[in-house]
Amino acid sequence: MDSQPILHILLTKEEIEAAVKRLAAEIKENYQGKYPLLIGVLKGSFMFMADLIRQLDFPLEVDFIRLSSYGRGKETSGRIKVVQYLHSQIKGRDVLVIEDIVDTGITTGFLLDYLHKKKPASLRLCTLTDKPSRRRAPVTIDYLGFTVPNKFLVGYGLDLNEKFRNLPDICVLEEES
Ligand code: IMP
Ligand code: MG
Repeated sequence: MDSQPILHILLTKEEIEAAVKRLAAEIKENYQGKYPLLIGVLKGSFMFMADLIRQLDFPLEVDFIRLSSYGRGKETSGRIKVVQYLHSQIKGRDVLVIEDIVDTGITTGFLLDYLHKKKPASLRLCTLTDKPSRRRAPVTIDYLGFTVPNKFLVGYGLDLNEKFRNLPDICVLEEES
């Protein structure tokens, strides 16, 4: 029989909202007037991206890329593939990558290398959450929402096998049989 998921709220929607506003203020300071390109990493970052850009009241562009690393379950396979490509020109643009979580860093590290080769004018990373205890590839985070413990998180875009993305809070998923 399948184990029953148990969810504990780690970050409430109010805490997330406050963090999004703080990050937007920091981003605005650096990018206002630069017409940046914000690149969301699908699928996990869609909700964060939607809330973040509503707080950015200056001209910008949005694009999405989809990478695959996990397949099913909680562990990265370590092999990253681009599953859905960008439509924008990267060369000469001020690019800001928007992530839901940096865990081992393998996915984000791959993406930053991939974008760097396309010669953007600048390249920075904004992530809502960071799980530094799991890092296997070094990643520099320019804008950080929350440092989180070494637990599997769901909600606010984060999933386990496509479930729980629609939760408004970020929750720790524990399984009990
Ligand atoms: P990394 O390559 O290990 O850093 O993992 C990057 C991707 O794995 C993230 O963008 C998420 O999509 C997924 N991921 C890592 N940790 C979690 C988690 O706790 N919950 C849900 N997805 C996660
Ligand atoms: Mg992701």
